[in-house]
Amino acid sequence: MKKIIITFIVCAITGSGLLLSSCAPTKDIADKGGAQLWGENCSRCHNAPTMDQYAKEDWGIIGTHMKLKAGLTAQETKKVVEYLQSGN
Ligand code: HEC
Repeated sequence: MKKIIITFIVCAITGSGLLLSSCAPTKDIADKGGAQLWGENCSRCHNAPTMDQYAKEDWGIIGTHMKLKAGLTAQETKKVVEYLQSGN
């Protein structure tokens, strides 16, 4: 519910000229790859960790932990974790 309200406000601010469908968060997320989401979110509070910093099996737990910190959706977290796991 909160998300819908925020989306609505963002849509209202970013321009009445846009089609409503272009504001749908699911499309934004679908368009963004793991690397982009990592770059945009994982350096907000600390240096973004690189894929070789942790073992493949550790990224899942870290993802769950940072999902809460960063306020990512499950889908976004999955993409970031898959990206970080792809290196080793
Ligand atoms: C809102 C701030 C914030 C964001 C955004 C954030 N982190 Fe963190 N991160 C922290 C803090 C604070 C710690 C220190 C541990 C703690 O206090 O929970 C941490 C610790 C870590 C650690 C050390 C191991 C651990 O789990 O504690 C890793 C790895 C990490 N973050 C990865 C990430 C990744 C990957 C992302 C992007 C999805 C991310 N972080 C986004 C705040 C953040």
